[in-house]
Amino acid sequence: MADPGFAVEAEGLSFSYTDGTRALHGVDFCLRKGEFTALLASNGSGKTTLIKVLGGLAKPQKGTVRIFGQKLGRIPRLKLYQTLGIVFQNPSDQLFAATVGEDVAFGPRNLGLDPDTVDLRVSEALEALSALHLRERAIHHLSFGEQKRVAIAGVLAMNPSVLILDEPTAGLDPSGEELMVRLLQRLNRNGGLSIVFATHSIDLLPLCADTVCVLNLGTVLCQGSARDVLCNHEMLKLAGLRLPYVTSLLMEMKDLDGVPIEGLPLTVKEARERLLEIIPPEILFKKA
Ligand SMILES: Nc1ncnc2c1ncn2[C@@H]1O[C@H](COP(=O)(O)OP(=O)(O)OP(=O)(O)O)[C@@H](O)[C@H]1O
Ligand SMILES: [Mg+2]
Repeated sequence: MADPGFAVEAEGLSFSYTDGTRALHGVDFCLRKGEFTALLASNGSGKTTLIKVLGGLAKPQKGTVRIFGQKLGRIPRLKLYQTLGIVFQNPSDQLFAATVGEDVAFGPRNLGLDPDTVDLRVSEALEALSALHLRERAIHHLSFGEQKRVAIAGVLAMNPSVLILDEPTAGLDPSGEELMVRLLQRLNRNGGLSIVFATHSIDLLPLCADTVCVLNLGTVLCQGSARDVLCNHEMLKLAGLRLPYVTSLLMEMKDLDGVPIEGLPLTVKEARERLLEIIPPEILFKKA
């Protein structure tokens, strides 16, 4: 049954490639309206395949996908492109015009929008990705991180309600990763975009994801709140993943050294707060 609260709802998806490789098996997945969900999995677990199926780029042998309650196969192509935007892992699969401005204008221009509206869409999309200053630059002169932001702007210029990104932080340096997460978070919180973010970078997720879906060998191991999923050590191990580094440090201090830490912190900020609760105040700010 379609749930009106879901932006994307997939049930019982199975997909095998033509050479017989089974990439998805009985996958259920959902994204609530306005939610930021991470699709977390190790290499080869089916993230890209699931994204292709959710976006209608690969047809599953079994199962159904609904976008805002409507069956994927029944949504006209043009409407689908304006509802759901997909950003591929490699920006060069997506960028093809000579300049940034031309590239981002491609989608809205193809919708038949008038030149002023196209212009506005391009400015707004580039602005949202902190890339307005790149507008006149040649695509092939951009750094990898800039290319990634421009590729997202190109999808955003179609004004989608749902954004699905395949490893948007892969290949970025730490400050580029952080910037990307902050920009996506802003699109989600201020712009109301529902976001699916495929990744295996677990340390970034406590900063942005509301919910996390863990895939392993083409099946869903679990989907739930980021806090519940990212603290589940055994399940993450089974998926070839690990706890966030800060969480494993505090878990070891708790289990091996008996440090009485409340709960399992997921971020540096939370860990600091928990530690300050138990460190005697008289030793703080003491100079050696
Ligand atoms: N075109 C293809 N033909 C045959 N098998 C494929 C094809 N593309 C992917 N696969 C296989 O499907 C499975 C899932 O691959 P997929 O690319 O979806 O995983 P992934 O989680 O995105 O991995 P990564 O983190 O490396 O990007 C893998 O076993 C992979 O070898
Ligand atoms: Mg992939």
